[in-house]
Amino acid sequence: MIAIAIDGPAGAGKSTIAKHLARVLEYIYVDTGALYRAIGWYALSQGEKSDDEAAVTALLPRLQVELHYQNGEQRVLVSGEDVTEKIRTPEVSMAASQVSAMPAVRQHLFQLQRQMAQEHNVVMDGRDIGTVVLPQAQIKIFLTADAEDRARRRHEELLQRGEKVTYDEVLRDIRQRDDNDSHRAVAPLKQAPDALLVDTTGHTLEQSIQRLTAIVKERLEHVVL
Ligand code: DC
Repeated sequence: MIAIAIDGPAGAGKSTIAKHLARVLEYIYVDTGALYRAIGWYALSQGEKSDDEAAVTALLPRLQVELHYQNGEQRVLVSGEDVTEKIRTPEVSMAASQVSAMPAVRQHLFQLQRQMAQEHNVVMDGRDIGTVVLPQAQIKIFLTADAEDRARRRHEELLQRGEKVTYDEVLRDIRQRDDNDSHRAVAPLKQAPDALLVDTTGHTLEQSIQRLTAIVKERLEHVVL
């Protein structure tokens, strides 16, 4: 099996680029952020505070997170309920960042992610894919961009989805999440030593897609199975 790991901070373009690569290569795209979002969403839906580690940990034994694929699109199910759209709000983004710092939450999701890569060729994006989940991935990319650039893209995305947020709120949230994700004790966001650093600041998403696709195709020619 071949695994392409794409890590980096929120809003760097990981999911758009990873989806495109998966389609071109006919691999499965695994968005691991959606798994943390699913747990964040569930904690909120149960009336828990998403930074209450004891409360969130206590929910895990009765919480089943599953990934399904419909026409190549990933769907996320929480104990049978499809939450794919519900987990995309700013509130759930922040909850996901908080629950993702909890070791029991990471442990809960680890096997599912590993299993996907054992059964399929994958393009998997997240924060710790190249460092922790799939350290054996044949290709690793660390995708980043300035916080302002990432906030601009994320703001446009949220407006298109009908969310009422200002650019300043999105920038503040991105900075807060960067800080949470990079400074947590378990599996913090960091570049794997063997990952290629790609900075998309100042580039359109289309330019970054083309650049990454060329890099990955070139590297795949040298992958020995
Ligand atoms: O990529 P995203 O914005 O959907 O991720 C939501 C949160 O989940 C993010 O703040 C960090 C966390 N996350 C993580 O800790 N590890 C991953 N592999 C993916 C996401």
